[in-house]
Amino acid sequence: MSKVTVVGAGNVGATCANVLAVNEVANEVILIDIKEGLAEGKAMDIMQTAQLLGFDTVVKGVTNDYAQTANSDVVVVTSGLPRKPGMSREELIGVNAGIVKSVTQSILKYSPNTILIIVSNPMDPMAYLSLKTLKLPRERVIGMGGALDSSRFKYFISQALNCNANDVDGLVIGGHGDTTMIPLARLATYKGIPITTLLPVAKVEEITQSTMVGGATLTGLLGTSAWMAPGAAASQVVESIVKDQKKMIVCAAYLDGEYNMKDITIGVPVIIGRKGIERIVELDLNVEEKAKLTASEAAVRATNKILSDMNLI
Ligand code: 2OP
Repeated sequence: MSKVTVVGAGNVGATCANVLAVNEVANEVILIDIKEGLAEGKAMDIMQTAQLLGFDTVVKGVTNDYAQTANSDVVVVTSGLPRKPGMSREELIGVNAGIVKSVTQSILKYSPNTILIIVSNPMDPMAYLSLKTLKLPRERVIGMGGALDSSRFKYFISQALNCNANDVDGLVIGGHGDTTMIPLARLATYKGIPITTLLPVAKVEEITQSTMVGGATLTGLLGTSAWMAPGAAASQVVESIVKDQKKMIVCAAYLDGEYNMKDITIGVPVIIGRKGIERIVELDLNVEEKAKLTASEAAVRATNKILSDMNLI
């Protein structure tokens, strides 16, 4: 039996709840929102697809009633504002930090042993904030960004190779920001064949650039930030936890010396299982990749500093 709560019934939260249900990742999904009736409506809409799609997961929507989330194995936090066209994820910190802080405190009150998956932007600082304010062990706070960015990277590679995206492997590490994420083209493969041997340098560079602004491109097209892939990426992380799949997924993890970084939450490959982050995988990065990671670290630290300037940590 597994119970998963999704906080925020906006586009990302509702999509995540839907994917969790359709894939029967959990037995019970609680969708909670501050806006009266929104979570109830989205949950009812999802449940009306149960007999059409043949799933048994029960999705329940509640307004602000955190008691209903009690004893959740995993909680996905999507609360806060999405970005508008032209906005960076980092610009959301002023509004979203306070929301994420209060939501995660309410969650922990009823599910003291839960594992948190942070989706709200700016994602790396929001994961850092949650870990610091709740004083949780690092295994139990996971930032979702790298799972999404890696999925976008694989999509763009599959488009360039005109191949099945499931045959592509690729990792995007670093911060979940337009200028901070690092698609590792050198390590990306198509069925084990390095993509750098299959595509011209300029094409690989184009894929890298498209991946980095992947979220911004969609925000421009949609008028608000994307939700299908973000919701599905969060569900992938939940599934690896509740089914103890021990998948390697890039997630924002709190580092304590790995990659020569301390006291920061940033995207690196991790093994996700029943205990949350069960292992941090240290890649052998080359000089250029290391330099990019150092620049990404500095940018994430600068955003984290805003949290202390706001007296939130
Ligand atoms: C994205 O990249 C919402 O940050 C999310 O689409």
